[in-house]
Amino acid sequence: MDQLVINGPAKLSGSVKVSSAKNACLPILAGVLLNPKLTHLKNLPDLRDIRTMCQLLEMLGVKITKNDNITTFDASNLTSTEATYELVKTMRASIFVLGPLMARKSNAKVSLPGGCAIGARPIDLHLTNLEKMGATITLEEGYVKAEGKMTGAHFALAFPSVGATENLVMAAVLADGKTVIENCALEPEIGDLANFLNKMGARIEGIGTKTLTIEGVMESELCELEYEAIGDRIEASTYVMAALATKSSLKVEGFNPEHIQFITDQLITMGAKIEKGADYLMISPSELKGTRVDTAPYPGFPTDAQAQIMALSCLIDGNSLISENIFENRFMHVPELKRLGARITVKGNSSFIEGGFKLTGAPVMATDLRASAALIIAALAAKGTTTIRRVYHLDRGYADLDNKLRSIGVDVTRENPEQDK
Ligand code: UD1
Repeated sequence: MDQLVINGPAKLSGSVKVSSAKNACLPILAGVLLNPKLTHLKNLPDLRDIRTMCQLLEMLGVKITKNDNITTFDASNLTSTEATYELVKTMRASIFVLGPLMARKSNAKVSLPGGCAIGARPIDLHLTNLEKMGATITLEEGYVKAEGKMTGAHFALAFPSVGATENLVMAAVLADGKTVIENCALEPEIGDLANFLNKMGARIEGIGTKTLTIEGVMESELCELEYEAIGDRIEASTYVMAALATKSSLKVEGFNPEHIQFITDQLITMGAKIEKGADYLMISPSELKGTRVDTAPYPGFPTDAQAQIMALSCLIDGNSLISENIFENRFMHVPELKRLGARITVKGNSSFIEGGFKLTGAPVMATDLRASAALIIAALAAKGTTTIRRVYHLDRGYADLDNKLRSIGVDVTRENPEQDK
C-alpha cells in the first residue's frame, strides 16, 4: 500500500489546474449505458473510482477504447444487467447504474452498497421512487433486483439526495411519458449530468432548480456525442485551503468559482484574500480568524470540504466550531489531526477546534477520501515529516496528486513500503 511522505512546512507557489470532477464523471459514465450510439468523454480524470466504473461498464457489455484524452464508449450491445458485489463494495457510486439499466433494459440486479466509512448511507430514496416509476423491487441475497418498464411519474424526494436525483433522472430519460422530480438536489454535478444527457438527446428541463422535468424519449432518438465534465470544485477547494494553511500565493484554475461561492464567502469573512476570475481563484497570504461552519446541501457549505476546513481551522488564530449535518460519523480525520498536534473536541455532530497551535509531522492514517485531504493540508503546514498511510483513499478522488503538489513546491514522495523492502 502506497504512502505519501511530506516534508513541511511547505510554501506553495505558481498555479495548479484541477481535473474534471469525479462526482460529475461517475454518474455521466453510468449515463453512457443509456446510449446505443457512441459516447466520447474528454479528459476523464485518472482516478481509481473512474477505473472501477469503467470496469463495471465493461462487465455490462460496454466496449471502451482510449485515444489520447478521449475515451470512447460503445454501449450498443449490453450483455448483462448485473453489478456484482465485488465491484460495488469497492465503490458506492456503482448504484448509479441502476437507473440507466432500468431505463434501457427494464431490468437490473445491483449489489447493495452497504455501509461505508462515513455512515450508513441508505439508498431508500433511489428505490422507493423507482417503484413510483413502475419498477418492482426485491432485495435478495444482498442484491437489489428491479424490473419493469419505466413510466413517467410525479414525486418529491423526501431529502435532496445527490445520488437519488441523478439515478432517477437517468431512469426517466427513456421512460414512457413525463417525469417530474421535486425537491431535487442542486449540486452542480447534477446540472452537468443533465447537460450531458440533453446533449445525448434527452429532454430535461429545470436544470439548476429544485424541480426537474424529464420528457421520456425513444432510444432511437439518442445520438453520438462528445462531452467534457466540469472542473472539480472539491479538489479546487482543497488546494485553496492548502494555500491558506501555508500562507502562500497560489492560483487554482480549471473550474467555475461560482460552484464554491459559499466556501469562498466564508473564507473571505475569515480574512482570506481571494481574487476571483472566470475559471480561477488567486489566493494571497492571509491572516485568518476562527469560524463557524455548518455543512448543508448545495448551495450551502459542502460536506466534502468539511474535513479540509477543519485542518485549516487548526492552524489559524482563534477558535472554530464545525457541525456536520449531512453524514453521521464524518469526523474520522479528528484523531489523525490530533496526532499532528491539533486541539479538537468532538461532541455529537459538532467539533470545537482551538486554533493557533503549531502542528508537527507524524505518521498518520488516511481513513476516507476527504479525511485524507485534510491530512494533506495539515501535513503541508506542519513542521517536519508526515507520512500518510493508505493513500489509496486519496487516489480515489485526487488525480495526479503528488505531481500536482510537487509542481507547486511541495517536498513530497510516494513510497511503497512493501515493495521497497
Ligand atoms: C454524493 C457525493 C458525495 C457527497 C454527497 C453529499 C457522489 C459520487 N458522491 O453522495 O461525495 O458527500 O453527495 O454532497 O456524487 N440518503 C438517504 N437515502 C437515500 C440517499 C441518501 O437517507 O436514498 C441520505 C444519506 O444517508 C445522507 C444524505 O442523504 O445522509 C445525503 O446523501 P446523498 O446526497 O445521497 O449523497 P451521495 O449521493 O451518496
